[in-house]
Amino acid sequence: MGMLRWIGLGLAGLLVIALGFVGWVYAASEAHFRSFAAPAPFAAAIPEDEAAVARGERLAKTRGCYGCHGEALEGEIMWGAIVTPNLPAMARAETPAALEAAIRHGVGVNGRALFSMPSYNFARMSDADLADLIAFLRATPVSTNAPAGKWRPLHERIIGEFIIRMDIARGKDAAMPHHLPLVPQLKEANNPDQRIARGEYLALTSCNECHGMTLRGDYPWPDAAPDLIVMGAYGPEDFTKLMREGVPISGAELEMMGPVARGRFVHWTDGEVDDLYAYLSHMAKRAVEAESGG
Ligand code: HEC
Ligand code: HEC
Repeated sequence: MGMLRWIGLGLAGLLVIALGFVGWVYAASEAHFRSFAAPAPFAAAIPEDEAAVARGERLAKTRGCYGCHGEALEGEIMWGAIVTPNLPAMARAETPAALEAAIRHGVGVNGRALFSMPSYNFARMSDADLADLIAFLRATPVSTNAPAGKWRPLHERIIGEFIIRMDIARGKDAAMPHHLPLVPQLKEANNPDQRIARGEYLALTSCNECHGMTLRGDYPWPDAAPDLIVMGAYGPEDFTKLMREGVPISGAELEMMGPVARGRFVHWTDGEVDDLYAYLSHMAKRAVEAESGG
């Protein structure tokens, strides 16, 4: 055979290997996304009264649904790569059980695991709060605005997705439900100081999105935000200022926490701010004691 034919055959062989690799990456990553069982169906009745809808709206605001799903929850283009769903539209099309599986368990309405929806932040949300949240989504008008945000060029998106799929296929990254068994159980429900119990619930369904599952700057994204042991330095007024204005003790402008507090945490009631403070200062004190061997 001539030289050109050998080169041609060699290239064809490489192409087959490359396609085989791409096929394996897609098949293995899809198998991972489909490997999580659907949870037991959520059976709580969804209320329809105005008070429930208003409670649900405050849950949506304080838990940051608007930050990723858009100003009218119409969906948003994130990282230039994916678009989050229109939640009021989805709440009309899907059953409460399908919504709950997505929100608390990271299993999408089509049974495929979600990847970047932070379900670990909602895993401990109570049935009653979840029902109110769904009541609110069902009652919210469906916005037909196009999702805000800009797409990255198609080839960058394809390559970006492929890199994530490659990590998943090799077991170096995982879909959201993989992280959920590591979400800590609530431990303070029977604390004689019920502010601490209520504050734990609020913190572990809102602050853990960025400050880590145990609020110690830990899993799943270490270093995304500081260890909340820093709360040991905060007095009640300092904390109120942080929640209401996004301004920390140092007076510095916080690039992320500032807008997050002004967007989400201004919607806490005064009672919720007190409860959070009671829990977080208790947690910080216990953490300091443990570290000094006490
Ligand atoms: C940090 C960003 C972020 C926040 C905060 C967030 N979401 Fe999502 N959500 C996403 C992304 C991204 C997806 C797209 C699916 C994925 O993760 O692969 C999604 C998907 C969903 C889905 C659809 C699942 C499916 O089957 O397609 C529902 C329902 C949902 N989110 C509800 C909520 C609710 C309710 C809140 C607030 C309590 C919320 N989300 C907060 C990022 C977020
Ligand atoms: C969306 C991510 C996110 C959420 C949710 C979040 N934080 Fe933060 N927080 C940060 C980041 C990031 C910083 C570090 C400063 C910065 O870059 O803005 C921070 C800093 C802080 C600090 C240190 C401020 C200082 O003195 O420097 C405290 C205290 C704090 N957060 C408390 C909370 C509490 C309490 C909650 C829940 C009610 C919460 N955060 C929820 C991202 C978040």
